[in-house]
Amino acid sequence: MNIDFDRIPRDALPALLRTMPKAELHLHIEGTLEPEMLLRLAHRHGVALPWAGVEALRAAYDFADLQSFLDVYYAGAGVLRDEADFFELAWAYFERAAADNVVHAEIFFDPQTHTARGVPIDRVILGLHHAARRAHQELRISSGLILCFLRHLSEDEAMATLDAALPWREHLVGVGLDSSERGHPPEKFARVFARARELGLECVAHAGEEGPAAYIEQALDLLQVRRIDHGVRCTESPALVQRLARERVPLTVCPLSNVRLRVFPDLASHNLPELLAAGLCATVNSDDPAYFGGYVADNYVQLFAAQPQQLGAREAHRLAANGFEASFVDDATKAGWRRELDAAFAAAMR
Ligand code: ADE
Ligand code: ZN
Repeated sequence: MNIDFDRIPRDALPALLRTMPKAELHLHIEGTLEPEMLLRLAHRHGVALPWAGVEALRAAYDFADLQSFLDVYYAGAGVLRDEADFFELAWAYFERAAADNVVHAEIFFDPQTHTARGVPIDRVILGLHHAARRAHQELRISSGLILCFLRHLSEDEAMATLDAALPWREHLVGVGLDSSERGHPPEKFARVFARARELGLECVAHAGEEGPAAYIEQALDLLQVRRIDHGVRCTESPALVQRLARERVPLTVCPLSNVRLRVFPDLASHNLPELLAAGLCATVNSDDPAYFGGYVADNYVQLFAAQPQQLGAREAHRLAANGFEASFVDDATKAGWRRELDAAFAAAMR
């Protein structure tokens, strides 16, 4: 299909960004826990919280860096106890994602946050899986679950977590690496990622969010990941940028997260246009939307509004197409989404 991007008026862009079909590839399900649900589950399970209500919770969402966010995020996740809680959490996300026309989501979860509190891993995986199955049936959203290892813990603990998840291997698409980046380089997890690869799991890792470009290189060379989560600090190494472009390694970028965790001072300074201009397979995602002030369409709309000179209809199409390209599905499925995307842009031409 021939799309003339110059014929899409600027004032049509926000609506197009919201309604165009999109994949979401960097989304922590625990990061979709909205304050209202958090308080409801705390009440249900008699969990004492340091926050009195929704206002106090939202006031706590003023983060200085990644660690100050993670402290609140892990405390919030402490209200998730039963399989029904994980189902409810994920179902609410899928309903919200449908409103943004997310047609495919690859979703992170942090089992160690829950098993450390005595919650069995099967409750976590099955609750999420049942919500994903219903989302496929009722909302036509396909999805995959990515089990993340917490990098502030040991590799032995990561290995034990992978072993504990094996009875539900069929419900997982891959493994990831998240939590506190500085001081916890990818090399610490080389063996557990090798084992995950043997099991046929796709591998991704957070790298170059707060950590240096060298962590991105380690994730590629030592963990052999297929995508880098965040990766925005790659621009500190021109050679690495060239490699990422040449090898077409996707970066799952999360603009609102980067501002809230002070990786960039504001959206106007975000380097996503630079990543695109360098020919990288950059994508737009929401990370922890309940904590960072917006879901995936909000990320697109707010970023495009902040950088109108750099980001227009052509870049919107590129970013959404990159999301499909970077997803872990077969080529025929990707081609179908790409046709839907092209049709949405063609319909917006004047
Ligand atoms: N866990 C949840 N969100 C995260 C992020 N942005 N970086 C690292 N770990 C995380
Ligand atoms: Zn993340």
